[in-house]
Amino acid sequence: MMPKVVAAKPLRDEVKTYLKEHVQLLEWEEGNKEDYYAKLAEADGLLTTGGEPITPELLDRAPALKVVSNISVGYNNFDIAAMKARNIIGTNTPGVLDDTVADLIFALMLSAARRVPELDRYVRDGRWHAGDGLNLFGLDVHHRKLGIIGMGRIGEAVARRGKLGFGMDVIYHNRSRSGLAEEQLGAVYKPLNELLQEADFIVLMTPLTPETRGMLGAAEFALMKQTAVFVNASRGQTIDEQALVDALEQRKLYAAGLDVFELEPLPAGHPLTKLDNVVLLPHIGSATEATRLDMAMLAAGNLIDALYGKEPRNIVNE
Ligand code: DGY
Repeated sequence: MMPKVVAAKPLRDEVKTYLKEHVQLLEWEEGNKEDYYAKLAEADGLLTTGGEPITPELLDRAPALKVVSNISVGYNNFDIAAMKARNIIGTNTPGVLDDTVADLIFALMLSAARRVPELDRYVRDGRWHAGDGLNLFGLDVHHRKLGIIGMGRIGEAVARRGKLGFGMDVIYHNRSRSGLAEEQLGAVYKPLNELLQEADFIVLMTPLTPETRGMLGAAEFALMKQTAVFVNASRGQTIDEQALVDALEQRKLYAAGLDVFELEPLPAGHPLTKLDNVVLLPHIGSATEATRLDMAMLAAGNLIDALYGKEPRNIVNE
């Protein structure tokens, strides 16, 4: 008998075909949570995404579960202790999304600095008049100082773009030093407060852990330059969101670009949606057709390996 697998979200056909060569895919009626839980009750494996909390309550509904495979590099949705207590393996998808997320981070940096969405609205609304000038100006990205907090693989891909593509000086803060960023890109390690004071562009890319939760609050935003642009593509809970709203409202910061939020989806009418100096995206860092397919295939492979007793490439809770 093939092991049974449930997917928390709809999958592309290629991924389903691959899975079905190795496992019995228990499909459920979209939108019908009861059907999902009924299938989960029988499942040996769960294929899920970073937005789905893997809580003790959920695990209690899945007594046969041996592996939870995330289609995301972040795995802060896992209750690691609860999974360990039940001998459930957790896996993620590092490596295949680095360049795609780094591209999106640059899209946020450029659009916040050059006010792209704001000025797009300006043109669409018929507010563009001959003689406009000063009111349309933004900030340069090229040759400015790029500060990266969290120099993992994605941070390195951001540093590469900054240094080689935009001639930026790169400074970074991380738990450990990045030989690659220092040797190949001339990146300079800085204590956090110095980075916040010096950088023109501050990119937050740390995973969400107990240590990084709320790491940037009012005191940290106050250290940033008034002309700084802040980009968060990690997790919303790494910052104090209200403190960021205050800094943007009071123009203590030039602008921000956000792909992640404390509460996702961001509620309609949220204070951030009232501000012109912030660019908001619905958590799409890795969301290109090609990369999401690579991630789903990698996650499916991790799941199949675990179910067949082979060590998956990307275990996160050993
Ligand atoms: C990731 O892979 O962690 C991205 O943020 C998508 O969840």
